[in-house]
Amino acid sequence: MTNNLSTVTISKDAEPRRIADLVSEFGIAIIPGFLPAATVAGLNAEFDRFFDEARARNAKELIEREEGVTVPVVRKDIDKARFPHTSEIFGTDFMRKIAEHYLGTKEIGFNHQIYVNLNKGTNFPVTLLPFLPHFDKISTLKFFVYLTDTTADNGAMGAVLGSQKQNRLIRDEEHKREGRSKTIDNIIEEPPLVPVEGAAGTMFIFDTDMTHAAGFVRPGKVRRIMRGHTRTLAVLKEHGLQHQAA
Ligand SMILES: [Fe+2]
Repeated sequence: MTNNLSTVTISKDAEPRRIADLVSEFGIAIIPGFLPAATVAGLNAEFDRFFDEARARNAKELIEREEGVTVPVVRKDIDKARFPHTSEIFGTDFMRKIAEHYLGTKEIGFNHQIYVNLNKGTNFPVTLLPFLPHFDKISTLKFFVYLTDTTADNGAMGAVLGSQKQNRLIRDEEHKREGRSKTIDNIIEEPPLVPVEGAAGTMFIFDTDMTHAAGFVRPGKVRRIMRGHTRTLAVLKEHGLQHQAA
């Protein structure tokens, strides 16, 4: 079966169950225009504030690399007065319902962690994760928001629609053999990635069992994104992260 992105593009007015069904079938659902411009502007201001504050207190969780900077934030610990948009958007009932339908349980750490991530242009593609095509070692549903217009030139995420089913089998088999170890080889060689392009305010939901890769940001360009990580409580417990669930 061949798919293109119109197959997985859906309106923000769609029923959460329909959106969850798209993710089940293809690994991803894309909602263009999910956030109005004013909310995108608010999130962009908070994006910069997260980094400023993390640097000011020398936060140990801040990940600074040549190709970008990331700060993971625990959602239940966010100061709602200083980060109103982030706490509201990643805590909406709409997202929660999609996650509950998709994961088939209310026992979830809903967007328990939010990654705030700036990727900077490099002269050559980075050959490290998450830039290499892969599936995640920990089963995760991600709510991914583009804060600026994002194309193949500035790091649009690459995806292989429908690949989550095969990858899940590989991951589950490895877990059966090795337990929940991190030894699994999760890199996929030369898959047919499609760039998930979108204007500022686009949100997409994807299962990290789907083959995906952070896109190459061309020199002089940047990518600004936030993404919420949702996992079942069972998965969180396996990885000792249950304290992050709200
Ligand atoms: Fe990943």
